[in-house]
Amino acid sequence: MQKPKRYLITSALPYANGPLHIGHLAGAYLNADVYARWLRAMGEEVLFVCGSDEHGAAITIRAMKEGLTPQEIVDKYHVLFKDTFQGMGISFDIYDRTSSARHHETSQDFFRELYNKGVFTEQSSEQYYDEEAGMFLADRYIKGTCPHCSNEDAYGDQCEKCGASLSPLDLKDPRSVLSGAKPILKTTSHWYLPLDQHEAWLKEYINQGMLDGEQHHDPTAWKTHVLGQCRSWLDAGLHPRAMTRDLDWGVDVPSDIPGSLGKKLYVWLDAPIGYISATKQWAEEHGKDWTHWWKDPETALIQFIGKDNIVFHCLIFPVILKAYGGFNLPINVPANQFMNLEGDKISTSKNWAVWVHEYLADFPDQQDSLRYNMLRNMPEQKDSEFTWKNFQETHNSELVNNLANFIHRVFVLLNKYEDGIVPGIQQDHAFISGDSSGRQVTIKEEMVFLSARLLKMDGAIRKFDFREALQGLMEVSMAGNQLLQSNEPWALAKTDPAKMQLVLYAGIQYVALLSRIMRPFMPFTAQKLLTMLGLQSVESSSDILGAQALLLAGQPLLHTGHQIGEVAHLFSRMGDEVIEAQIQKLIPKVEANQNLESDVPAIAYVTPKDPINYDQFAAMDLRVGTIVEAQKVPKADRLLQLKVDLGYEQRTVVSGIAEYFAPEAIIGQQVLVLVNLEPRSLRGIESKGMILMSTTAEGGLAFVEPKGQVANGMTVQ
Ligand code: 2FM
Ligand code: ZN
Repeated sequence: MQKPKRYLITSALPYANGPLHIGHLAGAYLNADVYARWLRAMGEEVLFVCGSDEHGAAITIRAMKEGLTPQEIVDKYHVLFKDTFQGMGISFDIYDRTSSARHHETSQDFFRELYNKGVFTEQSSEQYYDEEAGMFLADRYIKGTCPHCSNEDAYGDQCEKCGASLSPLDLKDPRSVLSGAKPILKTTSHWYLPLDQHEAWLKEYINQGMLDGEQHHDPTAWKTHVLGQCRSWLDAGLHPRAMTRDLDWGVDVPSDIPGSLGKKLYVWLDAPIGYISATKQWAEEHGKDWTHWWKDPETALIQFIGKDNIVFHCLIFPVILKAYGGFNLPINVPANQFMNLEGDKISTSKNWAVWVHEYLADFPDQQDSLRYNMLRNMPEQKDSEFTWKNFQETHNSELVNNLANFIHRVFVLLNKYEDGIVPGIQQDHAFISGDSSGRQVTIKEEMVFLSARLLKMDGAIRKFDFREALQGLMEVSMAGNQLLQSNEPWALAKTDPAKMQLVLYAGIQYVALLSRIMRPFMPFTAQKLLTMLGLQSVESSSDILGAQALLLAGQPLLHTGHQIGEVAHLFSRMGDEVIEAQIQKLIPKVEANQNLESDVPAIAYVTPKDPINYDQFAAMDLRVGTIVEAQKVPKADRLLQLKVDLGYEQRTVVSGIAEYFAPEAIIGQQVLVLVNLEPRSLRGIESKGMILMSTTAEGGLAFVEPKGQVANGMTVQ
C-alpha cells in the first residue's frame, strides 16, 4: 500500500469477566494508544476503537462464580473497564460493547451472509455433554489433562500451561466445570468454517503479503513471532472450526436459518466483528460514514492484540472478512508477548496481578509513571517483567533525575536570569550542542539536530517499536541535560550574558519539544508541562508534525518574548515506603500461590557430574537465539522441529520438547543454543545445535533465557 489515507486502529476487546491488570495494558492498549496519539499528532486521520467482549464461557462461568447473571457481570465490568481505560488516558474514539443491539445485528448479518453464500459446512458430531447440568460442554466449560504437557487443568479450548490450542475431545480425563461430573458423548450439529479451504490464499497473505494477486502489505514489517505463529498453524494444516455453540448466552444464530434454535454464535466469530459494530456506533454518534474505515482500500487496518489472540486475528478473522466480501484485511497485527509479575505469570485465578483500578486508587496522579514503566518494558518481542522495585527505579532515576530535573533546571534558570521570558538571541553565535559530540553549533543547527531526533522516534513508532521511541524521548531530555552541562549557563551569566541567553533559548526549545513528543507516552505530564510553558491547555492537533516542520527549517518552537508560566514539579521521588506497601499487598497472593502448590513432591536432585576443565567449557559455543518457527516432527511424539534465528543465520534444530510445549506457544521464545554441537540427523532432519533447557522440580522442562533484551547471536560466557 502507498501511504495510507487513514488508520483504523483496534485494540483487542477484553473479556468483561474481571478487572484489568497491568498485563492487559502492556499487551494491547498502551502501545495502541501511543500509536494512535502519535499518528494523530502527525496529522494523520485516525480512528481508535475498542470495547468489551461480553460473550463466551469466560463471562458465564464468572457469573456463576460471583452468583450474578451474565448481564450483571458484563454491566459491572464494562463500566469498570471504561473508567479504568479513561483513568489511564487510553484515547479510544469509542469504547463500545458486544451486548449492544447494534453488535447483535451486525454479527448476525455476517452469519447470515456467510450462510447464504454457502461458506459454512454443517456437521453433526459427538460432543461432551453434562447430564447433570443439561448442557453441552465446549471451550471453558470442560477441563481435563492436556495431551501435550499433562497439565490437569487444561481447558477445552486451550491449555494455559503450555499454550496449546485444544478441542474438548483432545483432553484426557475430561470433567465438567459446571458439576465436576464425567461428561458423556452426545450428538449435536453445528456450522463450521472450513479453514482448510482457505489455506492457499492465507499462505500468500501471511508469507508474501499478497491478496488476490496484489501486494497488500509488507510481511517483513510484521513481527517475527507473529509470522512464526501463523506459519506454524499453516504448516500444521488448518481444520474446519465450529462457528456456533449450544449455549444460553451469546448472539443468537439468526432465527430465519433452519436449525438455529438454541444455537449461539461462537464468541470468536462475534467478538472481532465487534470492531466493526463499534465503528458503526461511532459513525452514527458523529454523523459520519463508517464504510470507508473498513472498505476503502486506502485505510490501513492495524490490530493490536496479545499473543494468545494471533490465530484469531491473522487467520480466522481474515477468512470471515474475505468470505463476506468488500472488507479490508489487517495490514499489520503487532501482537505483544506477555508481561510477567515479580517472576511469575500473571494469573487472574491465582490473584497474581497488579489491578489497574487499584493502582489508580493508590496513585491517583501517577498514571504516567505506570505508562512509562510499561512502555519501557513492553513485551514487544519477548515476555517481559514488571517488578515494583524496577517501577521505583525507573520513576526515580529516569523520570525524576533525568526528565523532570532537566525541565526544572531550564525553568529555574530562565526565571532567575530572564524573568521567565524567552530572551532575544544572536542567530549566528555558537554554543556547544547537546548531542554529546562537543561540537559548536548555531541555534538553527541545534533545531535541525532536534528534528532528526523527532524523525527517529517517528520511524520507531511506525515500525511498532515503542521501547525505542520512548528511548528517543529520553535521549532528547538527556541531550538537554548535556546542553546545560557543557555550556554552564550559570557561569556564562557572569562572563558572557549573550551566550547564556543563547543557551537558555536553546534549552527552552528542548522543553517545548518535549511537551509535544511526550504526549503520546505521558499525556498527563505533557498537559502539565504545556501549562507550565504558558501554552494553550487544549490539545492541538498535529502538533508533532508542526514541530517537525519548524525544527527541520531551523526554526524555534517558542519565540523571543514568550512568557513561561509557573514552575511545578512534574514528578517527585517515589519513596521506599510506597513501594514496600505495594509489595506487601502482593504477599497474601504469594501465600495463596504457595498453598495451591503445597502438595508439590520433594525435589529429587540429579547426582552432580564429574568436573571438567576450563578448556572443555570454553570449547562450547553458546549463543542467544530466538525460535521463529516450530512444528511437530511427524510420527515422533517427543520431537519439535525448530527454526532458530541466531542473528548471523537461521538454522534448524530438532528438540525433544514436544511433550512439554505446543509449537505455536514457543514462537518468539528466546533461547540459549549450543551452536557448535556436531549436526545430527533425527528422523531424517538435520539438527544443527542444541537448545539449553532447565529441568523443573515438577519434572517438566523450562527454557533458559537471557534476562532483558539481548540481541540474537550474542555469546554466552
Ligand atoms: O482474549 C481476550 O480477552 C478476547 N476477549 C479478545 C477478543 S479480541 C476481538 F476479537 F474481539
Ligand atoms: Zn499443555
